[in-house]
Amino acid sequence: MRDQTPTSPALSLELLDWYDSHARTMPWRTSPADRKAGMRPDPYRVWMSEVMLQQTTVAAVKEYFTRFTTRWPTVAALAEAEDGDVMAEWAGLGYYARARNLLKCARVVHHDHGGVFPNTLETLLKLPGVGPYTAAAIASIAFDLSETVLDGNVERVMARLHDHHAPLPGSRPALKDFAAALTPPMRPGDYAQAVMDLGATLCTPKSPACGICPWRTPCQARINGTAAELPKKTPKAPKPTRHGIAYLARSETGDWLLERRPDKGLLGGMLGWPGSDWADVPTAAPPFSADWQDIGGEVRHTFTHFHLHLRVEVAELPKGFNAREGQLVLTKDAFRAKDLPTVMRKAFSLFQDNQGLG
Ligand code: ADE
Repeated sequence: MRDQTPTSPALSLELLDWYDSHARTMPWRTSPADRKAGMRPDPYRVWMSEVMLQQTTVAAVKEYFTRFTTRWPTVAALAEAEDGDVMAEWAGLGYYARARNLLKCARVVHHDHGGVFPNTLETLLKLPGVGPYTAAAIASIAFDLSETVLDGNVERVMARLHDHHAPLPGSRPALKDFAAALTPPMRPGDYAQAVMDLGATLCTPKSPACGICPWRTPCQARINGTAAELPKKTPKAPKPTRHGIAYLARSETGDWLLERRPDKGLLGGMLGWPGSDWADVPTAAPPFSADWQDIGGEVRHTFTHFHLHLRVEVAELPKGFNAREGQLVLTKDAFRAKDLPTVMRKAFSLFQDNQGLG
């Protein structure tokens, strides 16, 4: 009988067969057929997609990826972009440190590597914003090196294949060992994408489609009926709620007062409304003294480590207002709500709704 233990090399070949006919189409992906015909993925596009996909879904990334690569088609073009333009283009995608690192990394590749992405795991790991997952993804997908990718999808697939019940995140090294044991020397780039696709399309968190899974025979969790409860996770501490005030100041002619947030910290480098601190009880910090009016209601937004409840106050921007360093007055034509991070956009929408401007 054929070896069907979850470590058999035959398993990776079966998964590659499945991928040949079920690979998802993505704007950054070289299809298995094109890959077989000798096409090589562009490392710039692979890198950009993998940075965008950290903490973000494929569906959300597609539009951003297309906009970025249309506006900056090469790493050289991105390296020469204005910081503010890149941050504005990233607005809404979240985890803004990724955008600052994207730009830093493009500049390092352009200036220190002659515009050519390095092709070893070790050198990739030295690039800004490139951690173990992203380095392995670029090495395998762009350069067909036999490196092991471990994202949330692969963790789930490995936990089920081996019916491994130790909870995440502590179980990560064991799951990585399982994944490494299956990574084949042939077509490692397609294989990396195949495991991720399997996790995203069949081996889903809820109601996995075990009946049509290419790994249904060796899958120990399917045999034991435990697939739906894996992977186990160590419960997270509940998120605290913080409170803050955003100050929206508009001139008679429709100009808006905004601030460029410091590079370090939450929403670093992004434009935003001047505001109070975000705390249990916020300290009022209007950008100038005026008759600030609370517009009623509040914005709710959840960050990685806390929930935020934000009140919104408005006042008229004084004529000839003198902006401090970091502050800028954007004219009606230059102001675009879509350049703001989501929480700041929500504050603007609340204002529009409450003023009947929606
Ligand atoms: N998730 C993150 N990167 C991916 C990729 N290259 N293919 C499929 N899913 C992914």
